Amino acid sequence: MTLTTGFLGYRFMGKAHANALDRLLMFFPDAPAIERSILIGRNRDAVEEAADRFGFARVETDWEAAIDDIDVLYNLGPNHVHVEPTVTALENDVHVFCEKPLAPTLEEARRMDSAARRSDALAGVAFNYRYVPAIQLAKRMTDAGDFGDIRRFRGQYLQGWSADPNFPWSWRNDTDMAGTGVLGDVGSHTIDLARWLVGDIDSVMGNLETFVDKRPVEGSDEMRPVTTDDEFSALVSFESGAMGVMEGSRVATGHKGGNRIEVYGSEGGFRFDMERLNELEVRTGDDNGWRRILVTDDDHPYMDAWWPTGHIIGWEHAFVHENYEFLSAIAEDGTYSPNFAEGLATQKVVDAVKRSHSTGSRITL
Ligand SMILES: NC(=O)c1ccc[n+]([C@@H]2O[C@H](COP(=O)([O-])OP(=O)(O)OC[C@H]3O[C@@H](n4cnc5c(N)ncnc54)[C@H](O)[C@@H]3O)[C@@H](O)[C@H]2O)c1
Repeated sequence: MTLTTGFLGYRFMGKAHANALDRLLMFFPDAPAIERSILIGRNRDAVEEAADRFGFARVETDWEAAIDDIDVLYNLGPNHVHVEPTVTALENDVHVFCEKPLAPTLEEARRMDSAARRSDALAGVAFNYRYVPAIQLAKRMTDAGDFGDIRRFRGQYLQGWSADPNFPWSWRNDTDMAGTGVLGDVGSHTIDLARWLVGDIDSVMGNLETFVDKRPVEGSDEMRPVTTDDEFSALVSFESGAMGVMEGSRVATGHKGGNRIEVYGSEGGFRFDMERLNELEVRTGDDNGWRRILVTDDDHPYMDAWWPTGHIIGWEHAFVHENYEFLSAIAEDGTYSPNFAEGLATQKVVDAVKRSHSTGSRITL
């Protein structure tokens, strides 16, 4: 079976997924064969240049012209472009791998989820951090009960790129295009990991702030308003009774990829930091302190596909793993997680944090 693919978007995420498909069969020989068939964008010259680099056979400047000729749509556009192409693809039983967050708004995420439920095609959300081997190991240990009953989740994703008021305006600064700022952008990764590791969230109290309210538009004198948040924090409670705290920032100067997850249970816990992506710190049983596991052994998740023990991997490898799982699920008529229902569940938390901020009260989901 050869799956034909169409990518909508060819910048950051376009490059990350094209790189993943390039690596896929070399390291995961049982993955289904893939054809990089159509690259979709708005500017023909720019799309043609990217198609040459990424190895796509054809380009289209109208996504509707591509839908009939592909098995899988990769929706790698800005958040507001997720909705229509995805719904149309699913209505035509074309599989969709959609970048996160599912949509700018809860209403649009519901529409996408209901299209996925009605479709015979598979719909997955690209929450790539689930597929980092250290996080997979943490999940395996959490589910095996190595940390006991989980009582506390701490998640933060701190970046500093937006502290500079001269950093150019982009779609990420616009509510209509992005939905929210750092909350839906990197905060949705934290929320997805919290739900996956600890379970459903049943209430939130949230706070948002924007520090720079106008930004320059690149290549012009225009200053455009910023309508999304630079900073969020939330207190959450889980259905299981566990408690949690989450924070995300684009103005945390000095931080670059401070994506950190900590889980504490009655008998131990774990700590993960994306800036040390191959490591998992754990405390179990009688440990009187933290043990550092270098997650590069053959029996660690996905690591037998890569290098001999001790040879570390990077951020981009998680994209290979998620593509392997998603495309294999299509080929084997299987399921993929996170699916659109899980993407919608995360969107409900994003929406509740936003509502809690505007009303000043705790929101029950
Ligand atoms: N999983 C992750 O770690 C991760 C990281 C970054 C971004 N993302 C998500 O990926 C998506 C894309 O983000 P990005 O950083 O790649 O953005 P980007 O701005 O780098 O790229 C967006 C791409 O979409 C294209 N595009 C924009 N509007 C379009 C339209 N109307 N029709 C067709 N194409 C259009 C642009 O030309 C560009 O190629 C977002 O949803 C974002 O939240 C995920």
